[in-house]
Amino acid sequence: MIVVGWPGAAFGRALSANLACTYADLDVHRFPDGESRVRIDCDVRGSDVVMAAGLDRPDTRALPVLFAADALRELGARHVCLAAPYLAYMRQDARFAPGEAISSRSFARILSAFFDSLVTVEPHLHRWAGLDAIYSIPSRAVAAAGPIAEWVCANVESPIIVGPDAESEPWVAEVARLARAPHTVMAKRRAGDHEVGVQLRDTALPPGLSPVIVDDIVSTGNTIAAATRALREGGCAAPVVVGVHALFDDAALARMAQAGARRVVTCDTIDDPTNAIPLAPAVARAVREFIPT
Ligand code: R5P
Repeated sequence: MIVVGWPGAAFGRALSANLACTYADLDVHRFPDGESRVRIDCDVRGSDVVMAAGLDRPDTRALPVLFAADALRELGARHVCLAAPYLAYMRQDARFAPGEAISSRSFARILSAFFDSLVTVEPHLHRWAGLDAIYSIPSRAVAAAGPIAEWVCANVESPIIVGPDAESEPWVAEVARLARAPHTVMAKRRAGDHEVGVQLRDTALPPGLSPVIVDDIVSTGNTIAAATRALREGGCAAPVVVGVHALFDDAALARMAQAGARRVVTCDTIDDPTNAIPLAPAVARAVREFIPT
């Protein structure tokens, strides 16, 4: 087995270490006109290849990743698995306004045409029942609840796990169950990319607990900032924030800090200095289900 990774990203190397197999950076050159040239820098004939590429910034990354998948097959790879710790476009899972593309489904059709299998972490499955609803290749969605619960137990005393919106209830409840902690979810209303309102639904949270806000994606940080403000206004202590995917824009960390977040940590699905919770071991176990030794 060989892991071919998006150049410079830590996840591919961590994955190959967990799979105890060879690693090669994908060679991606960007031409002045914006086109990409990709090159596979190792012999893949007869090998099972795991393409490790987070699909954050998908409009830049997806085409080179697809070109690489095609090249891997032409160069003789036996199985080409995509290990995308962050799977893009999953939030566009409905036609929210007339004429809109349902991009999660379109993206799934494209990736399914190029790869033999897919492993990802906590894809944003809110309206689709599972990856199988849109991906026609075998797929695994690795859960982050276990590693997050472990981190919370080791780092936060007397936690209460808080979800920023009703949709987060199932997996916030799972983190809480594994951490043996209580949980609550808040009510969120989004009016635009930057207009987010979050309110406490439980007005009487048990006193003396340390809130830990857990969300799958943190992008602008507005959801977390609004949740943090609501908790503080409700008399709670400054929360710790745990995000799975650190999809931060330039101001996200500042927004959360200004709102009163005590600490922000994330999983290692997108390289960021806040990464504190490794998921490469769990992704490696899922890859092994498709490519046994
Ligand atoms: C939404 O359903 C997601 O779970 C996140 O809450 C959302 O994507 C966070 O976005 P932002 O950080 O831009 O508020």
